[in-house]
Amino acid sequence: MSLKHIAIIMDGNGRWATQRKRPRTFGHQAGVKAVRAVIESCVELNIPHLTLFAFSSENWSRPEKEVKRLMDLFMRSLNKETPELLKQGVKQNFIGDLSRFSDKLQNKMTEVASLQPIQTKLNLTIAVNYGGRWDMLQAARQLARDVKSNLVDEASIDEKRLNDYFSLANKPQVDLLIRTGGEHRISNFLLWQIAYAEIFFDDTLWPDFDGQNLTQIVTEFNRRERRFGQTSQQIKEQKDA
Ligand code: IPE
Ligand code: IPE
Ligand code: MG
Repeated sequence: MSLKHIAIIMDGNGRWATQRKRPRTFGHQAGVKAVRAVIESCVELNIPHLTLFAFSSENWSRPEKEVKRLMDLFMRSLNKETPELLKQGVKQNFIGDLSRFSDKLQNKMTEVASLQPIQTKLNLTIAVNYGGRWDMLQAARQLARDVKSNLVDEASIDEKRLNDYFSLANKPQVDLLIRTGGEHRISNFLLWQIAYAEIFFDDTLWPDFDGQNLTQIVTEFNRRERRFGQTSQQIKEQKDA
């Protein structure tokens, strides 16, 4: 079964640190290693698209100090990891309401997103200040603007057309959504884009998640039957044909 796009809600950094009697930010820092491991595994497994939830629209309501440390860590990681990622064939992109970040961070994201590896093996999208509802809202606004200025005819709007206005419009739909850290919720991550994703909730806290965890989930994904509304018998007949 083809697996083109994995999305991950990287959760559990704070609890990982608390278990070690360390500040929550220590967990965020440890989480960077897991990001690296998962990227490498995706390249090895020939998975062309990976989308990571790094900071939600709601995460601004955390203590100011934690938010600041997360911003610092984000900036530092972009600087530190980007040269190696380029060598590995990783093209980076960012989705979310980026306008809320400092000019410095916005410029850095623009710069990083403009860098092209010689041969792209993995399209990595990092979701920051991202919310699924924000995505719907910005899509609705842009589409309304285009209808108003006669660029789009209202009668021509179908699912495909609407999809063009969402973040990740140029990417395949998400096949596999993983949430680490044991919680069973979406927390306003991708909504439109996960309509038919297979969902895996994993108890591993994000800093402990590695390539082996990912490979295990991918193996399990490959065993699942994706029916898209059809019956199991129809799917089997199509496979045998
Ligand atoms: C996820 O880990 C990282 C971010 C949301 C930035 P958490 O910080 O939510 O970790 P827990 O859920 O408190 O353990
Ligand atoms: C979701 O985790 C956001 C990210 C992983 C970036 P949260 O820890 O913020 O989610 P809730 O608050 O437990 O739902
Ligand atoms: Mg959490």
